[in-house]
Amino acid sequence: MKEKIEEIKKRAQDGMGKITDQKSLEDFRIAFLGRNGAVSGLFSELKNVPKEEKPAVGNQLNQLRDELNASFALMAEKYESSGDEPVARVDLSLPGRARLIGSRHLVTQTMDEIKAIFKRMGFSIYTGPEVESDYYNFEALNFPPNHPARDMQDTFFISDNFVLRTHTTPVQIRIMESGPPPVRAIMPGKVFRNEDINARSHCIFHQIDGIAVGDNITFMELKSTLLSFAKEFYGSNIKHRFRASFFPFTEPSAELDVTCFICCGKGCRMCKHSGWLEILGCGMVDPNVFKSVGYNPEEITGYAFGMGVERIGILKYGLPDIRLYFENDLRFLRQF
Ligand code: DAH
Repeated sequence: MKEKIEEIKKRAQDGMGKITDQKSLEDFRIAFLGRNGAVSGLFSELKNVPKEEKPAVGNQLNQLRDELNASFALMAEKYESSGDEPVARVDLSLPGRARLIGSRHLVTQTMDEIKAIFKRMGFSIYTGPEVESDYYNFEALNFPPNHPARDMQDTFFISDNFVLRTHTTPVQIRIMESGPPPVRAIMPGKVFRNEDINARSHCIFHQIDGIAVGDNITFMELKSTLLSFAKEFYGSNIKHRFRASFFPFTEPSAELDVTCFICCGKGCRMCKHSGWLEILGCGMVDPNVFKSVGYNPEEITGYAFGMGVERIGILKYGLPDIRLYFENDLRFLRQF
């Protein structure tokens, strides 16, 4: 009996080596593991084995049957499919695939940071439409009819009367029109300029405007608010200066410069060797702007400001090219 078992075992091993497809696999199963197969045959002969040898021979048979079943199962995994669909196999020993977790874009991060600072100072957040009428984008903001900013070169015109907003300042008009003073708000959003795309300028970018209107709001308050912002955002050790400037919607107008973060004021390429970087425009709201929203300029005053979000990152991180923001290159984005 023992020899028989060994012989079948050997035949099965040979047979296993000859399996090349589904058909030969099934032939193997019928010959060795089927109801009338070789293993079954051996089991039925067990009754002829002398009583004292039965346990050992039984064990041997069980072992043979289990081994063949296991080998068959392995082979079946390989061949038992319809042929045209690949067998789905999972290798549980492989390390898992890491999932990429999204994160906020640098523009969003910068905007969120600026918003948080002004929120703490009591400003609410408003948004307005990206397609604006000429009235909101220019006229109500005291742009004279022939102002160069209305020129085809800077503005994307949708029609004679509608433009893609060139700044977020028109939202100031919409806020003031919607209710009486006091007003204390910032307005983040996308803006559009008909400019060539190069390292320094883009046709789409983001701005945050701000406005505060009420009784006795002074230039002093403008200075202290914007300085608090600059120190919180850029660090308390920066030096600053307000420089006289011009905007149609503010009078007087100024620009806020801070010491260059790259060279700490010594002078470098970033600050064009001046040691200063301009970070925002600001001023006292022009009386004509108050008139266009129905506020009485004799009774109230206010200040306003506006800054470019991409520009702030360019200055803060020393980015060499504004286009990096919009190319969706993960090698760039992952650094922030
Ligand atoms: N709108 C201006 C621009 O796009 C920035 C600006 C300057 C906004 C002064 C203001 C302001 O609200 O008071 O260049």
